[in-house]
Amino acid sequence: MSKTTNKTYGRTPDDPDGSRISMHIRMRPSVKSRLKTLAEETGRTMIEILESGVAVQEDQQEFNMVSRVNGTNGAAPRRTVRYAHGKNLKAKKTARINGGSPTNDLVLSCYQDSNNAVFPHILKLYVPEGSKIADCTYGKGVFWKDVDQTKYKCFFSDLKREGVPENVKAGVDSRRLPYKAKSLDALVFDPPYMHTPGGTAHNGHQNFEQYYANNAEIDEQVAKQIWKETNGSPPKYHEAVLDLYFRSAREAIRVLKSEGVYIVKCQDEVCANRNRFTHVEIMNELAAYGFKCLDILVVMRNNKPGVSRLKNSQVHARKNHSYFLVFRKGK
Ligand SMILES: C[S@@+](CC[C@H](N)C(=O)[O-])C[C@H]1O[C@@H](n2cnc3c(N)ncnc32)[C@H](O)[C@@H]1O
Repeated sequence: MSKTTNKTYGRTPDDPDGSRISMHIRMRPSVKSRLKTLAEETGRTMIEILESGVAVQEDQQEFNMVSRVNGTNGAAPRRTVRYAHGKNLKAKKTARINGGSPTNDLVLSCYQDSNNAVFPHILKLYVPEGSKIADCTYGKGVFWKDVDQTKYKCFFSDLKREGVPENVKAGVDSRRLPYKAKSLDALVFDPPYMHTPGGTAHNGHQNFEQYYANNAEIDEQVAKQIWKETNGSPPKYHEAVLDLYFRSAREAIRVLKSEGVYIVKCQDEVCANRNRFTHVEIMNELAAYGFKCLDILVVMRNNKPGVSRLKNSQVHARKNHSYFLVFRKGK
């Protein structure tokens, strides 16, 4: 027969996740260490593992934890644990999830491929079928080339007014979307993400200035608002690119449902000889708005980028990758 002992353990007010569990259960260091490893491997707290009844194994010995909640008088609940030492215990439960089959058919964090090849992977992982999804920078619709659109309720728009397909609402600014508050499950945003003050390096390639020459296309109300908020000095160059991302994200927060998914495409850039890690700048700012970054997928270009004129020597690594950032509204 196994010998049992009664002990109490944590989630006391001063130890809410029970991480100082050894103060409450006197367990051997090797057992505690195994418990800690299990917690790290599974992302659960030590308390949760004990409560789930998972056996903590040490060589041939098992410590099968059983818990029950004691009655409390308003104080944080303390629990009593019975644990047994010995070989003849009940069938062991492991922390490993049984079943499933081996596969390498997985969505990966990095692809050397086209946007239309990568985008469906993101939908598969983060946007359930039947979701209401809008793409507010539809462009040529490249992202959607390999997506079965019948599986979603799709809404497409773009700032452009001309040459826009019939299924796309033209002249819509991502900073002032025609959707009700909390009405979308997911939103896609892929604006021009390079500024090119005078150079030719990014001509025809997500060139920011090309789209915003004289602010011609910008929604009038948005333009007025920017003018007002910046005292007539709208941001320029890389700051203008960021400003577009940030304002659009604030609009995204408005139109997305709670836990809605925001898929943002971006690329880092060198501005005034300085590396600007746009993806980090976006992640930091959007966190402040209440977006949690769920994933980053890197897309590497198939071809080798060059520059039209290399003055002196190269200063920074030439970027040949961009990012899909996946955010969730809320925690
Ligand atoms: C890089 S392209 C998008 C490509 C698109 N994802 C595709 O798959 O073809 C950028 C698009 O954003 C649009 N755009 C630029 N500024 C915008 C804004 N403020 N609001 C909405 N669309 C904008 C441009 O007209 C352009 O079509």
